[in-house]
Amino acid sequence: MGHAETFHGYAPEQGYDFLRNIIAKEDFQEKGCDISADEIFISDGAKCDCGNIQELFSLDSVIAVCDPVYPVYVDSNVMAGRSGLYNGETGRFDKIVYMPCTADNGFLPEFPKEHVDLIYLCFPNNPTGEAIKKADLQAWVDFANKNGAVIIYDAAYEAYITEAGIPHSIYECEGAKTCAIELRSFSKKAGFTGMRLGFAVIPKDLKSGDVSLNAMWMRRQGSKYNGTPYIIQRAGEAVYSPEGKAQVAEQIARYMKNAKTIYTGLKDAGFTVYGGVNSPYIWLKTPNDMKSWDFFDFLLNNAGIVGTPGAGFGPSGEGYFRITAFGTYENSLKALDRIKNL
Ligand SMILES: Cc1ncc(COP(=O)(O)O)c(C=O)c1O
Repeated sequence: MGHAETFHGYAPEQGYDFLRNIIAKEDFQEKGCDISADEIFISDGAKCDCGNIQELFSLDSVIAVCDPVYPVYVDSNVMAGRSGLYNGETGRFDKIVYMPCTADNGFLPEFPKEHVDLIYLCFPNNPTGEAIKKADLQAWVDFANKNGAVIIYDAAYEAYITEAGIPHSIYECEGAKTCAIELRSFSKKAGFTGMRLGFAVIPKDLKSGDVSLNAMWMRRQGSKYNGTPYIIQRAGEAVYSPEGKAQVAEQIARYMKNAKTIYTGLKDAGFTVYGGVNSPYIWLKTPNDMKSWDFFDFLLNNAGIVGTPGAGFGPSGEGYFRITAFGTYENSLKALDRIKNL
């Protein structure tokens, strides 16, 4: 800061080229996705992008969300005025299209029957921990292109995919560049929760009428965002160095070891569990159809363990409970032991 040669003032709002270039190359081009650096917009994390991206669309746009869902997609649209009133009986907002994802449909949303303009998809999913197969994602891309909808694809947990045949990016699907925006986070991949770094991919082929959403987002960021701090972007660049890659791989392996231990431990103890294979979340069906919050109280009071009640993610999350693998191995084992001894 004190030296003219190394001083950095206002940054390019869309991100420094050194980071945009390496992301385009390593996360997309080397994986067969035709995405260029000027389609990458560096941000201070996926939460802000998830919340802000709706500003590109008119207030009469109809949005579709999975249920259960990461709450930011719904709440940011409600705050913008795109919903009707909250209906206490259904636990849903009017004018928003909810797509239930439960064990009955393998936690995969079904296509909406009514016209929708914006479709939020998140895979691997928070909270269910389930992933989507490439053919199923391709079907969503085809649906969006056919019906003139835009998919907001939240790939915050992409780095946790362990199985083949699960897409890391929506741009692995043919035609995605004309219908999809992808959001990524360095929080889950490289522990940047406090540092704050993410990015949005907005392809130049993505148009609303003849308006380029890439150009619109550039304008939006230029007007409302001052850019992610230089040192954070340099830290992000280091994630792609050989040392960075080794550290990220080690950290993810550690969390996925927890996930496997929790998943198999709970299964062996007689619980019905989902997720945990391509995701750090285990989605547990509460025993005896207990309500999510009753199970929360039960676990807290009898085992001193906290998790997240599924009902907090939407009405179709009722009767489920999310357990995280983002802890230490020792604590995961301790928690499992206590659950088994309940
Ligand atoms: C699905 C999903 N998207 C986005 C985020 C936010 O990520 P970030 O820390 O980059 O804002 C989270 C964090 O919990 C998440 O679960």
